[in-house]
Amino acid sequence: SAAEKGGYDYFMLKEIAEQPKAVADTLLGRIDASGALSLDEVRIPVAELREVDKVVIVACGTAFHAGLIAKYAIEHWTRIPCEVELASEFRYRDPILDARTLVIAISQSGETMDTLMALRHAREQGARVLAVCNTNGSTIPRESDAVLYTHAGPEVAVASTKAFLTQLVACYLVALYLGQVRGTKWGDEIQAVVRDLSRISCEVERVLETMEPVRELARSLASKNTVLFLGRHVGYPVALEGALKLKELAYMHAEGFAAGELKHGPIALIEEDLPVVVVVPSPRGRSVLHDKIVSNIQEIRARGARTIVIAEEGDETVVPYADHLIRIPATPTLLQPLVATVPLQVFACELATARGNEVDQPRNLAKSVTVE
Ligand code: AGP
Repeated sequence: SAAEKGGYDYFMLKEIAEQPKAVADTLLGRIDASGALSLDEVRIPVAELREVDKVVIVACGTAFHAGLIAKYAIEHWTRIPCEVELASEFRYRDPILDARTLVIAISQSGETMDTLMALRHAREQGARVLAVCNTNGSTIPRESDAVLYTHAGPEVAVASTKAFLTQLVACYLVALYLGQVRGTKWGDEIQAVVRDLSRISCEVERVLETMEPVRELARSLASKNTVLFLGRHVGYPVALEGALKLKELAYMHAEGFAAGELKHGPIALIEEDLPVVVVVPSPRGRSVLHDKIVSNIQEIRARGARTIVIAEEGDETVVPYADHLIRIPATPTLLQPLVATVPLQVFACELATARGNEVDQPRNLAKSVTVE
Protein backbone atom coordinates (compact mmCIF):
# COMPACT_ATOMS: atom_id res chain seq x y z
CA SER A 1 0.00 0.00 0.00
CA ALA A 2 0.97 3.66 -0.37
CA ALA A 3 1.45 3.98 3.39
CA GLU A 4 3.89 1.07 3.47
CA LYS A 5 5.88 2.83 0.77
CA GLY A 6 6.12 5.90 2.98
CA GLY A 7 4.77 8.22 0.29
CA TYR A 8 7.13 6.94 -2.41
CA ASP A 9 5.85 5.36 -5.63
CA TYR A 10 8.02 2.30 -5.11
CA PHE A 11 9.70 0.47 -2.25
CA MET A 12 12.94 0.82 -4.15
CA LEU A 13 12.74 4.63 -4.00
CA LYS A 14 11.96 4.46 -0.30
CA GLU A 15 14.85 2.10 0.31
CA ILE A 16 17.27 4.25 -1.70
CA ALA A 17 16.21 7.22 0.45
CA GLU A 18 16.68 5.20 3.65
CA GLN A 19 20.36 4.57 2.92
CA PRO A 20 21.86 7.29 5.10
CA LYS A 21 19.94 5.93 8.09
CA ALA A 22 20.70 2.31 7.21
CA VAL A 23 24.42 3.11 7.06
CA ALA A 24 24.32 5.04 10.34
CA ASP A 25 22.32 2.27 12.05
CA THR A 26 24.83 -0.36 10.91
CA LEU A 27 27.65 1.63 12.52
CA LEU A 28 25.71 2.42 15.68
CA GLY A 29 27.24 1.07 18.86
CA ARG A 30 30.05 -0.67 17.00
CA ILE A 31 32.71 2.03 17.31
CA ASP A 32 33.42 3.33 20.80
CA ALA A 33 34.31 6.88 21.84
CA SER A 34 38.02 6.20 21.43
CA GLY A 35 37.49 5.10 17.82
CA ALA A 36 38.07 1.42 18.61
CA LEU A 37 35.83 -1.28 17.16
CA SER A 38 33.63 -3.10 19.63
CA LEU A 39 32.19 -6.13 17.93
CA ASP A 40 31.57 -8.46 20.87
CA GLU A 41 28.58 -9.79 18.95
CA VAL A 42 31.05 -11.54 16.61
CA ARG A 43 31.31 -14.60 18.80
CA ILE A 44 34.51 -16.00 17.37
CA PRO A 45 37.23 -15.97 20.06
CA VAL A 46 39.86 -13.29 19.52
CA ALA A 47 42.54 -16.00 19.80
CA GLU A 48 41.01 -17.71 16.75
CA LEU A 49 40.70 -14.47 14.81
CA ARG A 50 44.42 -13.88 15.41
CA GLU A 51 45.16 -17.25 13.81
CA VAL A 52 43.13 -16.65 10.63
CA ASP A 53 45.42 -16.98 7.62
CA LYS A 54 42.86 -16.70 4.84
CA VAL A 55 39.48 -15.02 4.36
CA VAL A 56 37.02 -16.39 1.81
CA ILE A 57 33.89 -14.44 1.00
CA VAL A 58 30.91 -16.25 -0.54
CA ALA A 59 27.75 -14.55 -1.77
CA CYS A 60 25.48 -14.07 -4.78
CA GLY A 61 24.43 -11.13 -6.93
CA THR A 62 24.65 -7.77 -5.24
CA ALA A 63 26.00 -9.33 -2.04
CA PHE A 64 28.82 -10.81 -4.16
CA HIS A 65 29.65 -7.31 -5.39
CA ALA A 66 29.84 -6.14 -1.77
CA GLY A 67 32.27 -9.02 -1.21
CA LEU A 68 34.42 -8.00 -4.17
CA ILE A 69 34.76 -4.52 -2.65
CA ALA A 70 35.36 -5.91 0.85
CA LYS A 71 38.37 -7.84 -0.46
CA TYR A 72 40.23 -4.58 -1.14
CA ALA A 73 39.58 -3.35 2.40
CA ILE A 74 40.35 -6.66 4.11
CA GLU A 75 43.64 -7.20 2.32
CA HIS A 76 44.70 -3.59 2.66
CA TRP A 77 43.87 -3.22 6.34
CA THR A 78 44.74 -6.71 7.61
CA ARG A 79 47.25 -8.12 5.07
CA ILE A 80 45.33 -11.42 5.24
CA PRO A 81 44.79 -12.92 1.76
CA CYS A 82 41.12 -12.75 0.79
CA GLU A 83 39.28 -14.61 -1.96
CA VAL A 84 35.77 -13.79 -3.12
CA GLU A 85 33.70 -16.40 -4.83
CA LEU A 86 30.21 -16.77 -6.18
CA ALA A 87 28.48 -19.03 -3.69
CA SER A 88 27.04 -21.11 -6.53
CA GLU A 89 30.54 -21.98 -7.77
CA PHE A 90 32.30 -22.38 -4.45
CA ARG A 91 31.81 -25.93 -3.25
CA TYR A 92 32.01 -27.49 -6.70
CA ARG A 93 35.68 -26.70 -7.13
CA ASP A 94 36.81 -28.44 -3.92
CA PRO A 95 38.10 -25.27 -2.23
CA ILE A 96 41.03 -25.42 0.22
CA LEU A 97 39.70 -24.66 3.70
CA ASP A 98 40.72 -25.42 7.26
CA ALA A 99 40.28 -24.17 10.82
CA ARG A 100 42.39 -21.08 10.06
CA THR A 101 40.10 -20.01 7.21
CA LEU A 102 37.49 -17.38 7.99
CA VAL A 103 34.57 -17.66 5.59
CA ILE A 104 32.29 -14.62 5.38
CA ALA A 105 28.85 -15.39 3.95
CA ILE A 106 27.06 -12.21 2.87
CA SER A 107 23.29 -12.36 2.41
CA GLN A 108 20.52 -9.84 2.78
CA SER A 109 17.76 -12.42 3.16
CA GLY A 110 19.77 -15.08 4.98
CA GLU A 111 17.87 -17.66 2.94
CA THR A 112 19.78 -17.83 -0.34
CA MET A 113 20.30 -21.53 -1.01
CA ASP A 114 23.55 -21.16 -2.95
CA THR A 115 25.11 -19.22 -0.07
CA LEU A 116 23.74 -21.62 2.52
CA MET A 117 25.18 -24.64 0.70
CA ALA A 118 28.54 -22.87 0.41
CA LEU A 119 28.69 -22.15 4.14
CA ARG A 120 27.65 -25.71 5.01
CA HIS A 121 30.49 -26.96 2.86
CA ALA A 122 32.92 -24.55 4.54
CA ARG A 123 31.92 -25.69 8.00
CA GLU A 124 32.24 -29.34 7.04
CA GLN A 125 35.84 -28.57 6.09
CA GLY A 126 36.44 -27.04 9.52
CA ALA A 127 36.40 -23.36 8.54
CA ARG A 128 34.87 -20.69 10.80
CA VAL A 129 31.89 -18.98 9.20
CA LEU A 130 30.80 -15.41 9.90
CA ALA A 131 27.49 -14.34 8.37
CA VAL A 132 26.87 -10.74 7.33
CA CYS A 133 23.11 -10.69 7.15
CA ASN A 134 20.12 -8.36 7.24
CA THR A 135 17.45 -10.75 8.48
CA ASN A 136 17.33 -11.67 12.15
CA GLY A 137 17.17 -15.35 12.89
CA SER A 138 17.25 -16.45 9.25
CA THR A 139 18.89 -19.71 8.19
CA ILE A 140 22.34 -18.41 7.16
CA PRO A 141 23.14 -16.73 10.50
CA ARG A 142 21.62 -19.67 12.40
CA GLU A 143 23.97 -22.08 10.68
CA SER A 144 27.06 -19.83 11.01
CA ASP A 145 29.55 -19.63 13.89
CA ALA A 146 28.84 -15.93 14.27
CA VAL A 147 26.85 -13.13 12.70
CA LEU A 148 27.23 -9.43 12.18
CA TYR A 149 23.83 -8.03 11.32
CA THR A 150 23.43 -5.20 8.86
CA HIS A 151 20.81 -2.86 10.26
CA ALA A 152 19.23 -1.82 6.98
CA GLY A 153 15.70 -2.65 8.10
CA PRO A 154 13.40 -4.73 5.88
CA GLU A 155 14.25 -4.53 2.19
CA VAL A 156 11.17 -5.21 0.06
CA ALA A 157 12.15 -4.23 -3.50
CA VAL A 158 13.71 -7.14 -5.37
CA ALA A 159 16.62 -4.92 -6.43
CA SER A 160 18.93 -4.60 -3.47
CA THR A 161 20.00 -1.07 -2.50
CA LYS A 162 20.25 -0.23 1.19
CA ALA A 163 21.28 -3.80 2.00
CA PHE A 164 24.27 -3.40 -0.31
CA LEU A 165 25.52 -0.22 1.37
CA THR A 166 25.16 -1.77 4.81
CA GLN A 167 26.94 -4.94 3.65
CA LEU A 168 29.88 -2.75 2.70
CA VAL A 169 29.82 -1.04 6.10
CA ALA A 170 29.60 -4.37 7.92
CA CYS A 171 32.49 -5.82 5.90
CA TYR A 172 34.60 -2.73 6.58
CA LEU A 173 33.85 -3.14 10.29
CA VAL A 174 34.96 -6.78 10.11
CA ALA A 175 38.15 -5.76 8.27
CA LEU A 176 38.95 -3.03 10.78
CA TYR A 177 38.16 -5.36 13.67
CA LEU A 178 40.46 -8.05 12.28
CA GLY A 179 43.13 -5.37 11.92
CA GLN A 180 42.52 -4.28 15.50
CA VAL A 181 42.64 -7.74 17.13
CA ARG A 182 45.72 -8.71 15.16
CA GLY A 183 47.48 -5.39 15.66
CA THR A 184 48.35 -5.21 11.97
CA LYS A 185 48.62 -1.74 10.50
CA TRP A 186 46.45 -0.54 13.37
CA GLY A 187 47.67 2.99 13.25
CA ASP A 188 46.78 6.43 12.02
CA GLU A 189 45.28 5.22 8.77
CA ILE A 190 42.73 2.97 10.41
CA GLN A 191 41.83 5.64 12.98
CA ALA A 192 41.23 8.03 10.08
CA VAL A 193 39.07 5.47 8.27
CA VAL A 194 36.93 5.03 11.38
CA ARG A 195 36.42 8.79 11.47
CA ASP A 196 35.56 8.94 7.76
CA LEU A 197 33.18 6.01 8.13
CA SER A 198 31.29 7.80 10.90
CA ARG A 199 30.73 10.74 8.55
CA ILE A 200 29.80 8.69 5.49
CA SER A 201 26.05 8.61 6.05
CA CYS A 202 25.96 12.43 5.69
CA GLU A 203 27.83 12.09 2.40
CA VAL A 204 25.27 9.54 1.16
CA GLU A 205 22.56 12.04 2.12
CA ARG A 206 24.30 14.75 0.08
CA VAL A 207 24.43 12.47 -2.96
CA LEU A 208 20.70 11.82 -2.67
CA GLU A 209 20.01 15.55 -2.70
CA THR A 210 21.64 15.98 -6.10
CA MET A 211 20.01 13.18 -8.09
CA GLU A 212 17.61 15.12 -10.33
CA PRO A 213 20.08 15.42 -13.26
CA VAL A 214 20.72 11.67 -13.02
CA ARG A 215 16.99 10.99 -13.33
CA GLU A 216 16.77 13.33 -16.33
CA LEU A 217 19.72 11.60 -17.96
CA ALA A 218 18.14 8.18 -17.35
CA ARG A 219 14.91 9.27 -19.03
CA SER A 220 16.84 10.51 -22.06
CA LEU A 221 18.40 7.06 -22.49
CA ALA A 222 15.17 5.08 -22.25
CA SER A 223 15.31 3.90 -25.86
CA LYS A 224 18.92 2.68 -25.75
CA ASN A 225 19.68 -1.05 -25.88
CA THR A 226 23.06 -1.19 -24.20
CA VAL A 227 24.87 0.63 -21.42
CA LEU A 228 28.44 -0.20 -20.40
CA PHE A 229 30.02 0.49 -17.01
CA LEU A 230 33.73 0.91 -16.33
CA GLY A 231 35.71 1.15 -13.13
CA ARG A 232 39.07 0.35 -11.64
CA HIS A 233 40.02 -0.91 -8.18
CA VAL A 234 36.89 -0.70 -5.97
CA GLY A 235 35.19 1.14 -8.82
CA TYR A 236 35.22 -2.09 -10.81
CA PRO A 237 32.72 -3.95 -8.57
CA VAL A 238 30.71 -0.71 -8.45
CA ALA A 239 30.56 -0.90 -12.26
CA LEU A 240 29.39 -4.54 -12.01
CA GLU A 241 26.70 -3.51 -9.54
CA GLY A 242 25.55 -0.63 -11.76
CA ALA A 243 25.23 -3.08 -14.65
CA LEU A 244 23.36 -5.67 -12.56
CA LYS A 245 20.85 -3.05 -11.42
CA LEU A 246 20.21 -2.02 -15.00
CA LYS A 247 19.71 -5.61 -16.16
CA GLU A 248 17.31 -6.39 -13.36
CA LEU A 249 15.25 -3.23 -13.58
CA ALA A 250 15.49 -1.85 -17.12
CA TYR A 251 15.93 -5.24 -18.87
CA MET A 252 18.73 -3.66 -20.86
CA HIS A 253 21.98 -5.19 -21.95
CA ALA A 254 24.39 -3.82 -19.38
CA GLU A 255 27.93 -4.92 -18.67
CA GLY A 256 30.57 -3.85 -16.23
CA PHE A 257 34.27 -4.00 -17.08
CA ALA A 258 37.54 -3.27 -15.39
CA ALA A 259 38.64 -0.22 -17.36
CA GLY A 260 42.11 -1.71 -17.82
CA GLU A 261 40.54 -4.61 -19.72
CA LEU A 262 39.10 -2.34 -22.42
CA LYS A 263 42.02 -2.79 -24.77
CA HIS A 264 41.89 -6.56 -24.27
CA GLY A 265 38.52 -6.81 -25.98
CA PRO A 266 35.58 -4.73 -24.78
CA ILE A 267 36.71 -1.55 -26.56
CA ALA A 268 35.54 -3.22 -29.77
CA LEU A 269 31.99 -2.70 -28.49
CA ILE A 270 32.30 1.09 -28.46
CA GLU A 271 30.30 2.75 -31.21
CA GLU A 272 28.76 6.15 -31.89
CA ASP A 273 26.59 7.38 -29.02
CA LEU A 274 26.92 4.24 -26.86
CA PRO A 275 26.37 5.30 -23.23
CA VAL A 276 29.33 4.35 -21.04
CA VAL A 277 29.26 5.07 -17.32
CA VAL A 278 32.72 5.52 -15.83
CA VAL A 279 33.39 5.46 -12.10
CA VAL A 280 36.45 7.64 -11.50
CA PRO A 281 38.61 7.06 -8.43
CA SER A 282 39.70 9.98 -6.31
CA PRO A 283 42.58 11.99 -7.78
CA ARG A 284 43.99 12.10 -4.24
CA GLY A 285 45.38 8.89 -2.79
CA ARG A 286 45.97 6.41 -5.58
CA SER A 287 46.37 9.02 -8.29
CA VAL A 288 47.88 6.52 -10.74
CA LEU A 289 44.49 4.87 -10.99
CA HIS A 290 42.82 8.19 -11.54
CA ASP A 291 45.13 9.16 -14.38
CA LYS A 292 44.73 5.77 -16.05
CA ILE A 293 40.96 6.00 -16.04
CA VAL A 294 41.07 9.51 -17.45
CA SER A 295 42.97 8.10 -20.45
CA ASN A 296 40.39 5.30 -20.69
CA ILE A 297 37.65 7.94 -20.88
CA GLN A 298 39.56 9.74 -23.66
CA GLU A 299 40.02 6.46 -25.55
CA ILE A 300 36.33 5.54 -25.56
CA ARG A 301 35.21 9.09 -26.28
CA ALA A 302 37.52 9.25 -29.30
CA ARG A 303 35.61 6.21 -30.57
CA GLY A 304 32.22 7.85 -30.18
CA ALA A 305 31.07 6.77 -26.72
CA ARG A 306 28.70 9.03 -24.83
CA THR A 307 30.58 9.32 -21.53
CA ILE A 308 28.71 9.48 -18.24
CA VAL A 309 31.37 10.25 -15.68
CA ILE A 310 30.99 9.79 -11.94
CA ALA A 311 33.77 11.80 -10.31
CA GLU A 312 34.43 13.44 -7.00
CA GLU A 313 33.78 17.12 -6.40
CA GLY A 314 36.76 19.24 -7.35
CA ASP A 315 38.14 16.76 -9.88
CA GLU A 316 38.47 19.09 -12.87
CA THR A 317 40.61 16.85 -15.08
CA VAL A 318 37.59 14.81 -16.20
CA VAL A 319 35.50 17.82 -17.25
CA PRO A 320 36.68 18.04 -20.90
CA TYR A 321 35.88 14.36 -21.52
CA ALA A 322 32.53 14.04 -19.76
CA ASP A 323 29.38 14.31 -21.84
CA HIS A 324 27.52 14.01 -18.54
CA LEU A 325 29.17 14.61 -15.21
CA ILE A 326 27.79 13.20 -11.96
CA ARG A 327 29.47 14.61 -8.87
CA ILE A 328 30.02 12.66 -5.65
CA PRO A 329 31.61 13.87 -2.41
CA ALA A 330 35.32 13.30 -1.90
CA THR A 331 35.96 10.20 0.20
CA PRO A 332 38.96 7.96 0.81
CA THR A 333 39.34 5.46 -2.05
CA LEU A 334 38.04 2.45 -0.13
CA LEU A 335 34.89 4.27 0.98
CA GLN A 336 34.01 5.63 -2.45
CA PRO A 337 31.66 2.73 -3.34
CA LEU A 338 29.31 3.92 -0.58
CA VAL A 339 28.68 7.14 -2.48
CA ALA A 340 29.40 6.07 -6.07
CA THR A 341 26.78 3.29 -6.09
CA VAL A 342 23.89 5.59 -5.20
CA PRO A 343 23.63 7.42 -8.57
CA LEU A 344 23.71 4.03 -10.32
CA GLN A 345 20.73 2.83 -8.27
CA VAL A 346 18.79 6.00 -9.06
CA PHE A 347 19.77 5.72 -12.73
CA ALA A 348 18.50 2.12 -13.02
CA CYS A 349 15.31 2.84 -11.10
CA GLU A 350 14.46 5.83 -13.29
CA LEU A 351 15.26 3.96 -16.50
CA ALA A 352 12.97 1.13 -15.41
CA THR A 353 10.18 3.62 -14.76
CA ALA A 354 10.76 5.36 -18.09
CA ARG A 355 10.58 2.00 -19.87
CA GLY A 356 7.32 1.16 -18.11
CA ASN A 357 8.78 -1.71 -16.09
CA GLU A 358 7.61 -2.91 -12.72
CA VAL A 359 10.27 -1.43 -10.40
CA ASP A 360 9.72 -3.43 -7.23
CA GLN A 361 8.96 -6.76 -8.91
CA PRO A 362 11.12 -7.15 -12.03
CA ARG A 363 10.09 -9.99 -14.30
CA ASN A 364 11.50 -13.47 -13.66
CA LEU A 365 13.08 -12.50 -10.31
CA ALA A 366 12.34 -13.30 -6.68
CA LYS A 367 13.52 -11.41 -3.61
CA SER A 368 15.15 -14.43 -2.11
CA VAL A 369 16.32 -17.37 -4.15
CA THR A 370 15.72 -20.46 -2.04
CA VAL A 371 16.60 -23.02 -4.69
CA GLU A 372 20.06 -23.84 -6.01
C1 AGP B 1 20.10 -7.75 -6.15
O1 AGP B 1 19.55 -6.61 -6.67
C2 AGP B 1 19.48 -9.03 -6.46
N1 AGP B 1 18.09 -9.05 -6.53
C3 AGP B 1 20.21 -10.30 -6.10
O2 AGP B 1 21.39 -10.30 -6.89
C4 AGP B 1 20.58 -10.59 -4.65
O3 AGP B 1 21.55 -9.67 -4.21
C5 AGP B 1 21.08 -12.04 -4.52
O4 AGP B 1 20.06 -12.92 -4.93
C6 AGP B 1 21.54 -12.39 -3.13
O5 AGP B 1 20.51 -12.30 -2.20
P1 AGP B 1 20.76 -12.36 -0.65
O6 AGP B 1 21.60 -11.16 -0.30
O7 AGP B 1 19.43 -12.31 0.00
O8 AGP B 1 21.52 -13.62 -0.36
